[in-house]
Amino acid sequence: MLLSKPEAVLVVALVIHMIGAVYGSSAASDQLALLEIKSKITLDPQGALTSWNDSLPFCQWRGVTCGRRHQRVTMLDLRDSGLVGSLSPYIGNMSFLGYIFLYNNTLHGSIPPEISRLYRLQVLSLSKNSFTGKSQPTCQAGQNLRSLAYDLISYPGKFQILSRL
Ligand SMILES: *[C@@H]1O[C@H](CO)[C@@H](O)[C@H](O)[C@H]1NC(C)=O
Ligand SMILES: *[C@@H]1O[C@H](CO)[C@@H](O)[C@H](O)[C@H]1NC(C)=O
Ligand SMILES: *[C@@H]1O[C@H](CO)[C@@H](O)[C@H](O)[C@H]1NC(C)=O
Repeated sequence: MLLSKPEAVLVVALVIHMIGAVYGSSAASDQLALLEIKSKITLDPQGALTSWNDSLPFCQWRGVTCGRRHQRVTMLDLRDSGLVGSLSPYIGNMSFLGYIFLYNNTLHGSIPPEISRLYRLQVLSLSKNSFTGKSQPTCQAGQNLRSLAYDLISYPGKFQILSRL
């Protein structure tokens, strides 16, 4: 059976939608993931996450950058924010994430292995935190990954490898 062109387009769109649903990939799941991340923060002395509420679309929350075409989170930058707490495994659901800057906070517990699902991830900056445990994100999926195996410190415009995770 041959499909007409519009039908084929529809089928492809449907399949993509289903894959997204299975892997929890949608704008709604990005918002949920951000709220889960916030819920694991026990102390936010600088109010870094105050804007993370219903008064604004999540793409306008402080530290959150979305792609232009999709309302999907491409960068999370909460460095130097004094955040205390742990890092929610829901971070692994934000499948468009390319950059994570959590450098210089007080995050403890293990680094969620779910991060390794982020196959668009290029920079993972988690140093100067209190992470423990041996949970190392492995990078089986990361073609674009500059170095998920490394912890990176960022300077304006360039990155320096600090240490292996
Ligand atoms: C997101 O991630 C969490 C934990 O990793 C998981 O339990 C949840 O089902 C995922 N999916 C969605 C759509 O939030
Ligand atoms: C919600 O976010 C706005 C800024 O976007 C902020 O002014 C307001 O205080 C926040 N509300 C709460 C309850 O934190
Ligand atoms: C870490 O962040 C705090 C603010 O939370 C800032 O005062 C301090 O200078 C930062 N340290 C480094 C090494 O960037």
